[in-house]
Parts: sequence; structure tokens; C-alpha cells
Amino acid sequence: MSLPPILSNLRIPVIASPMFIVSNPDLVIAQCKAGIVGSFPALNAREKDGEPVQLEAWLTRITEELDRHNQANPDNPAAPFAVNQIVHRSNVRLERDIEICVKHKVPLWITSLGARPEVNEAAHSVGGVVMHDIINNTFAKKAIEKGADGLIAVAAGAGGHAGMQSPFALIQEIRTWFDGPIALSGSIATGRAVLAAQAMGADLGYIGSPFIATEEANAVPEYKDMIVNSGAEDIVYSSLFTGVHGNYLKPSIRNAGLDPDDLEHADASSMNFSQGASKPKAWSAIWGAGQGIGAIHKVQPAAAYIDQLAREYADAKAVLAA
Ligand SMILES: Cc1cc2nc3c(=O)[nH]c(=O)nc-3n(C[C@H](O)[C@H](O)[C@H](O)COP(=O)(O)O)c2cc1C
Repeated sequence: MSLPPILSNLRIPVIASPMFIVSNPDLVIAQCKAGIVGSFPALNAREKDGEPVQLEAWLTRITEELDRHNQANPDNPAAPFAVNQIVHRSNVRLERDIEICVKHKVPLWITSLGARPEVNEAAHSVGGVVMHDIINNTFAKKAIEKGADGLIAVAAGAGGHAGMQSPFALIQEIRTWFDGPIALSGSIATGRAVLAAQAMGADLGYIGSPFIATEEANAVPEYKDMIVNSGAEDIVYSSLFTGVHGNYLKPSIRNAGLDPDDLEHADASSMNFSQGASKPKAWSAIWGAGQGIGAIHKVQPAAAYIDQLAREYADAKAVLAA
């Protein structure tokens, strides 16, 4: 099956994934202008009581800046952007945020944690495409049954709430029954890895952690430097910090006074995405990242990193074709 038009005209087949706290309008705009889908979690746009709604302001700014870019560069238009909705009962903003995304006709919707038909219907009512993220074939089937258009297969080694399955196993099982759009998530950090994801049966690579080490990302310099200075062995998979297993930087856990190789478990009932919910103060500097960051050697503008991905992707194709 062919990809929906909004995913088929990208400079390289990549979606920059949404990252809690880290993704902001500057990063999204830079990603889209450089030719890949940029995204952010709706929950990153937070206002204090009585202040104007941040999500409105962010969507207005992103849409206007990308429109201006497109008018000035008709031969080199920006890629579309995506908003991530955390579909979890503790996300008390979900209904409001969906209304705002409908009003702004968000082109790509990324849903996480729960698959709900009404969210898909809202997206479809304004021509939006929904990609739902899943960690196994069972959740993948449920997501499509409930009306998602495509899947984000979150394999082992991804930043944030990663899965445990090998990307080969996950993609091969889903491709036996699903011929719609699939993005592969987990440790993709080079153009060569994007091509590998396609060879494996995915349509697009889904890249998160490398963008933490960009100038635009909303992350403190120490976090960006830790991405640059760490590799796969510095990542630990733990449920302690949110109640769901995710990948974290070991040095940040040591800095918080804990032993990353001897962490307790927490259960899913401690997950909380309500407005203002935060980790205990001692954990505020425990930072997420996937296993692919060994490929990241400097902090640079997002556009420079995307240029590098595009070069590597073209080179890898040429080498294999030869
Ligand atoms: C710091 C951080 C925060 C994240 N927050 C979210 C989030 O709010 N919503 C979401 O759907 N995924 C989130 N993710 C997961 C990413 O969307 C994506 O699956 C992952 O980053 C891809 O793997 P990679 O980091 O190895 O590239 C987060 C990942 C990281 C590293």
C-alpha cells in the first residue's frame, strides 16, 4: 500500500519523535523546515492557571512559520508536523487538547498508551492521519481495529517507554497482516539505520534521542553533553521512575544518588500524566535516552543533524546498490 501523501514527500523517510519536556516549537519548526516530520507531545505546552492556552499559541506559531517558509520556498516546502496525545486516564487535558488540534487541523496525530476510536475519529474529521505507538503485535492489532491509520513499532533500545522486542521480530509479525504505514522506533540515529528500517519492512524511521543533543531542544546543557558522551552501555531499562519500563542514562541516575544496576521496580498504577504531575524532586534530573546515542558526537543545530542523516542515507543506498 502506498503511504498517505503527508508521509510520502519527505526529504528522508523520518519522523522526529515527540519527547516529553524536550520537544518545543523551535525544534519542531527546524525539523519540518529541514524536510522531516517534527513533533511534540501536547502536554509539553503548559500554561499556569489564568494564562492563555499554550497549545493554541504553539500551534498558531508552528503553522504560521511553516506557511511563511512554504511561500518563500515553493520548491523546498516544509514537512508536515505531528502532535502526540497521551491517551491515558490520568491525562485530564485530553479532551480539550483534541478540540484544539481539531481546530488547528493538525495533519499527523501520534497517539500513545491507549487506543481510543473517538481520538481517531476527531483526527479523521479534519483530514488528519493517526499513527499509534505499540510495543507488540497484540497492541498493534488493537490499534488498527480501533481506527488508527498507521503504527509506530517501538522496539527494544528506544528512548522513553521502550518495548522489549527485537525490531526484526516486531516488524516481521506486523507485516504478516498490515500493509499500512509503519514507523520503526528504537536506537535509529544514522541514515544507514533509516535505510535498514526500510529494508526490514518499515516505511519510516522514528528518531528521538539524537535530537536531545541539538541546539533547539529544551534540555539543560548537562543533559545534551551526557547524550554526546554516552553509548548503549550507559543506558538502563527500568520501571522505577514512571511505573512503566523505559530507558534512562545511567550517569544521571548515579548523579541522583542511586545505583543504576540495582534499581527497584514500580508498577503501572503509579503512572500519572495529569497537569503538573512531576517526578519526586530527587528524580527531576533523571534523563531518558535510547541505546542509539553512541552515534551522536556533538551538539549541533537540528538542521545540521538532518543534513547528516540525508547524506548518510544516500551514501548507504549507493553502497548497497553497488
Ligand atoms: C526523553 C524522552 C521523552 C519521551 N517522551 C515521549 C512522549 O512524551 N510521548 C511519546 O509518545 N514518546 C515519547 N518518547 C519516546 C519517543 O517518542 C520514541 O519512541 C523514542 O525516542 C525513539 O527511540 P530513540 O530515542 O532511541 O530514537 C520519549 C523519548 C525520550 C528519549
